[in-house]
Amino acid sequence: MTSHNIDKIMNRIFENTDTIPTPGIIIASPSNEPDYKYHWIRDSALVMRPIIDMYSKTKESKYFHYIINYIENESKIQGLKTLSGLGEPKININRTPFNGDWGRPQNDGPALRGIMLIKILDLFKYDYEIISNNVLIPMIIKDLEYILENYNKVSFDLWEENKGWHFYTRMVQLKFMKDCLQRTEYFNKYSIQSNYDKLFSDLNDHFNGDSIISSFDESGKIVKYEDAANILAFCHIDYDEDILNKINFNNVLHTCNGLLTFFRNKYSNDKLNMIGRYCDDKYYGGQIWLLCTMSLGQVYMELYKRNNIVKNRSPMHRAKSNPSTEYFITANEILEKVLTMDVSLMLPEQYNPNTEEFISAKKLTWNYSELYMLLQQLS
Ligand code: NOJ
Ligand code: NOJ
Repeated sequence: MTSHNIDKIMNRIFENTDTIPTPGIIIASPSNEPDYKYHWIRDSALVMRPIIDMYSKTKESKYFHYIINYIENESKIQGLKTLSGLGEPKININRTPFNGDWGRPQNDGPALRGIMLIKILDLFKYDYEIISNNVLIPMIIKDLEYILENYNKVSFDLWEENKGWHFYTRMVQLKFMKDCLQRTEYFNKYSIQSNYDKLFSDLNDHFNGDSIISSFDESGKIVKYEDAANILAFCHIDYDEDILNKINFNNVLHTCNGLLTFFRNKYSNDKLNMIGRYCDDKYYGGQIWLLCTMSLGQVYMELYKRNNIVKNRSPMHRAKSNPSTEYFITANEILEKVLTMDVSLMLPEQYNPNTEEFISAKKLTWNYSELYMLLQQLS
């Protein structure tokens, strides 16, 4: 059952890159309306997670091939003359800069790419020393230098709408800095520690009581609290223990609850377990976003597991029924819902749960990486 699903997931991802003649280019979706036939730095980095994970588990050459294409393509992209340098959010599918109007820079991109390159370095460093030393490390250094120079400057959020300071962007930048900091043998020349500490203290500005401020504008005014980006942030740092030790993971529940309440109201369904990006989103009617819903399932599973560990360690306090069992049930319901939406697993960006209509981009590549991660959490 699971391996059959994994095959389907991987095939949907492969189709969104194999159909493009330029190796390594991954389109965000094959849709023309909206036009998603571009290579986003963010989407493609996130899509590499299942590919890298499958490679590490199976060592199959097909996964190796996609990793090599990713490295080759991103290396060339890093060398392009774009309007915002490495912060450029998307690239044309013939690998030329996209110079139209857009929300740029988006400084989560180079951090996410850096996180993926580090994962690849960890897998390659013994058997592929030349690729590691001559290609991967110089690429990581480019992203690292960019992040060190730009983390203290405003950028557009991952939804490409607001210029300012964002919890999501800062979390992935922090994770990337931390991953570099830990690999002293390669990156000890760069003054990461002081910047890491500074970014950590900036991140604390986003914690307000038991909630998370997702964005401040350029002048430091609060733009938004509840945003699925807060949930995605924890997923995309792999729940890094060193980071989670210093912030309150439970604050994510404020976002989860706020979004569930809003979307239950919107669709007049108090059992709905699906969410969109944020309240009153106007993009294609601000419907349910599958990738946001799947990230909700992922953090619920993470919280469920963590609560269980704590409970089991202290038998005196072991509850008969763990209150977070509900998280487990909801995560399973989300998985079941997504897997049964379409027989061929053609998953759209947005969905209207009342009419069951698929809305906006079709077969969104990023969806499949969140689905893969959710499946891992549940198996
Ligand atoms: C395209 C962006 O990708 C999307 O996130 C945004 O909502 C619309 N432009 C409108 O700004
Ligand atoms: C719009 C989303 O807001 C953005 O996060 C994404 O990168 C692009 N679509 C491409 O999928």
